[in-house]
Amino acid sequence: MTVVGKHILIGISGGIAAYKIPELIRQLIKQGAEVRVTTTRNALQFVTETTLQTLSGAPVYTDVFAAINEHATEHISLPQWADLMLVAPATANVVAKCAAGIADDALTTTFCSCLARKPILVAPAMNDKMWESPATRHAIETLRSFANVTVLEPAEGQLACGVSGKGRMPEPDELTEAVIAAMTPKTLLGKRVLLTAGPTVEPLDPVRFISNFSTGKMGYALARECLRRGAEVILVSGPCDQHIIGHDDMLSLRRVQTAREMADAAVSAFREADLAILCAAVADYRPETVAPEKIKKQADTDEMTLRLVENPDTAAMLGSQKRPNQVLVGFALETEAEEENALRKMQRKQLDYIVLNSLRETGAGFGTDTNRVTIFAKDGTKKDCPLASKETVACQILDAILI
Ligand code: CTP
Repeated sequence: MTVVGKHILIGISGGIAAYKIPELIRQLIKQGAEVRVTTTRNALQFVTETTLQTLSGAPVYTDVFAAINEHATEHISLPQWADLMLVAPATANVVAKCAAGIADDALTTTFCSCLARKPILVAPAMNDKMWESPATRHAIETLRSFANVTVLEPAEGQLACGVSGKGRMPEPDELTEAVIAAMTPKTLLGKRVLLTAGPTVEPLDPVRFISNFSTGKMGYALARECLRRGAEVILVSGPCDQHIIGHDDMLSLRRVQTAREMADAAVSAFREADLAILCAAVADYRPETVAPEKIKKQADTDEMTLRLVENPDTAAMLGSQKRPNQVLVGFALETEAEEENALRKMQRKQLDYIVLNSLRETGAGFGTDTNRVTIFAKDGTKKDCPLASKETVACQILDAILI
């Protein structure tokens, strides 16, 4: 799911990590969310009201009694407006007050009134000794016992006081991912999904290889969405620049280079998988031999012949091993007779679904941020999806698959 049009309420308390919240606001707005902000008075020692107001495009709620307040009862109306509240950074003081139901400023009154009705994420950030304090432990356990509150684990690393320890607030991109994941219904909870993504590379010699233009964007967007929906993901990835933020406990990333390595990794992971989505652009052929030294230019000829041999077809291998309760989804990137070729591929590889993307469509294909796909199911149904970001296309695909 995306956060397009969603209302995110951020509560900032007075810790040094507050300086990172303007970047978080920017990222959430870039993702299409609307953001409002409430702060403690101390938070304004670290980040200015003007910055927060400029970036969020809305007044900042800092004082319960300020005459300028839009409705005079923002601590009631803001939670009503919000789809989710994120308290970041949450200092030891604010964690303790929120756990105890103390409501003595703009942030804590808003938290208190949000608690009964909206999902809340809390990102504690403090000195490691304060994090370990029995009082903080007790408050954190109390917060965790509230049905709609999720407490994000602070990271280990360099703290503002100069020591290294546990207590760092997650980075803005990790918080953005946590917000999106928290808002995504857990429709794949308990499922294990195998994904292949990116290109494969087939070496010719120590410095050269055969590959293709795949960037891995679509496969990684699918992996991200599966994780957001609660699945455990095994991502078999060819070399690419994509990465997944967060979800460390649910993601197993297996990096491979060649089609044969990809086939080995996918076949062994498929045994335990409920769903496999094969998004990788696999090299169908590889050089018959890999030269141990760099191949030198020949002085006596202006030609060079490469002998290629066929690679294993992961999709076809999984199709032949598939159990009745497993779902197998392939991709087809075609440049001509698209539908016919895609349907033939689905049958030949014994797939349950095939996702067709055409290189002839503007905004679809390698390296673009958007895609336009048609999803065919083996029962003969067909779903034409509109052009959308690859994140949204990942949702369209997962919504169409029955597992
Ligand atoms: N695939 C695979 N292993 C291969 C080749 C393809 O797992 N060696 C998978 C792709 O990940 C994709 C589907 O099979 O899900 C179709 O890939 P595509 O390259 O379109 O099909 P090919 O079978 O290679 O046919 P062609 O290149 O002739 O179009």
